[in-house]
Amino acid sequence: MQLQEAKIAVKKSKYTRKHMLAAWAVLSLLLSVSSLAQNPTFHNAPASAKLEKNPMQGQQTQEGKAAFQQRCVACHGPNGEGSGNIPSLASEKAQGASDGELFWYITKGDVNNGMPSWASLPEEQRWQIINYIRVLGASKPGSPRVALSSDEAVSVGANSPPPKAPFTDYRFEKPGATRKITPADLPAPLETTSAGNAPQVVPRPDNAWPEVPAGFKVELYASGLNQPRLIRTAPNGDFFVAESQTGEILVFRGISADGKPQLTGTFATGLKRPFGINFYPPGPDPQWIYVGNTDSVVRFPYKNGDVKASGASEHIADLPSSSGHWTRDIQFTVDGKKMLVSVGSASNINDPDTTPEEKNRADVLEFNPDGSGMRVYAYGIRNCVGMAVQPKTGALWCSVNERDGLGDNLVPDYITHVQEGGFYGWPWWYMGKHQDPRHEGKHPELKDKVITPDVILHPHNASLELTFYNGKQFPAEYQGDIFAAEHGSWNRSVRVGYELIRVPLDKSGHATGAYEDFMTGFVVDNGHVWGRPVGVTVAPDGSLLVTDDGSKSIWRISYTGKSQ
Ligand code: HEC
Repeated sequence: MQLQEAKIAVKKSKYTRKHMLAAWAVLSLLLSVSSLAQNPTFHNAPASAKLEKNPMQGQQTQEGKAAFQQRCVACHGPNGEGSGNIPSLASEKAQGASDGELFWYITKGDVNNGMPSWASLPEEQRWQIINYIRVLGASKPGSPRVALSSDEAVSVGANSPPPKAPFTDYRFEKPGATRKITPADLPAPLETTSAGNAPQVVPRPDNAWPEVPAGFKVELYASGLNQPRLIRTAPNGDFFVAESQTGEILVFRGISADGKPQLTGTFATGLKRPFGINFYPPGPDPQWIYVGNTDSVVRFPYKNGDVKASGASEHIADLPSSSGHWTRDIQFTVDGKKMLVSVGSASNINDPDTTPEEKNRADVLEFNPDGSGMRVYAYGIRNCVGMAVQPKTGALWCSVNERDGLGDNLVPDYITHVQEGGFYGWPWWYMGKHQDPRHEGKHPELKDKVITPDVILHPHNASLELTFYNGKQFPAEYQGDIFAAEHGSWNRSVRVGYELIRVPLDKSGHATGAYEDFMTGFVVDNGHVWGRPVGVTVAPDGSLLVTDDGSKSIWRISYTGKSQ
């Protein structure tokens, strides 16, 4: 165990150290003039504490972990999870504190409230413990190790050297650029720090518009929506859109001469964070619309042309939903006999063996269409946000968000066809035989079972909905290819994603592992973005519709053959 941990004790790359130092200089200045007023301090730590630099920043050592286990676990728990009145160290509050603030607090303690002072530990050990607390934080979704404000992010973006192929970032994304990442390209865990770099979403700047390859054009189909997420084309050609935040399913019909919907409606309201939408039975004449709430599958009576549900929803199945990844997508097998539902993990990397909330999560679940007969169809798929059935083969495909907290270029998201009974690695393994260092030594018997996905996407892309192109409008080489929406990174120092990608497939419907940037242009700078693609579907006329919950709109991409 200890030897293995020593192996993963990591040094930061020279690059990162340098740019973090440069960024630190800029950010110290910024912090001292502006941010202090906005960010409340941690336990009233003085400003000087907030700014104190961690001399061992990002360095994971065996000593840090050992000291934590010896000194802190008794109260805060093995994963720093806390209990009763002992706070979690993986929480947003603790993880939101700067290293300097944590150091100050740990040194002083809060003896009256039961937290000892650790001033007696060597300073170096206190910093190492803090580094380990960051690892614990990285096991919780949304808890960054090094949180950047948008001003800091802008400066990191401007000062970072170009990425080393095959990795990239928003500065180098361009329609038509081809990418291919293989397991051999992956760096060691935490070769760079794990960044908290969620974007600030701003209105579309006057000169900004989505960019697509020559011969294609982009128009604004609908705007002013709330949180448009998944979009699916009904057998009759209407578009159904999940507005997850308001709990509604919207309908859009047609494309007018000026590229707008001819009719819009609200099909259903009062749903619980709806995401997945599908039509049953498969084929031209469905009788129900199924909707994936975050905690259940429900269905509404439906016939072609309905723009409002003609009856109340019927409960089909409960889904696990305690916390964490909340989207649920739904597909039916081609023969209509089974319903497949994707349910993402409750956490970043909590071990399902010891975490009851992870039961039946990070899975694709199978049901009969009436909700009975639940079983696990495929497992270890951390968060299959978008599912699609490949028309040519009938195979199920997933677009998957992988785990965070292991640095800028780990762990890759992926798109893959899903094998029944297949194991895709989470949380113990990733991309074939790579063990997650946070689960060192666990489940050796699964090492040879981990399936390496078909298409390894850029780490932190946040790959959401995917669809197969079966329209007649795009050039012939697009026939049968996959388009997928990449919502964009938060866990990367220079952002990546924020695009629509194309995954070319060969004649028999297999992936080569390569993919292309298709629609880009949503990033203003490393701190700010104006658009975030979520859903993609093929319209009856062969154009693509793409939902975007950054600009709260729907884009339409059509092929004109002319360069714009
Ligand atoms: C004897 C039990 C105990 C031990 C041992 C202990 N803590 Fe605590 N810790 C607490 C309690 C209780 C609090 C909450 C104090 C309060 O309410 O203000 C706390 C609070 C904290 C906080 C503030 C968290 C927040 O969100 O406000 C940090 C950080 C922390 N402890 C780190 C550590 C570290 C690191 C160690 C080991 C070196 C450690 N603690 C050991 C009991 C303990």
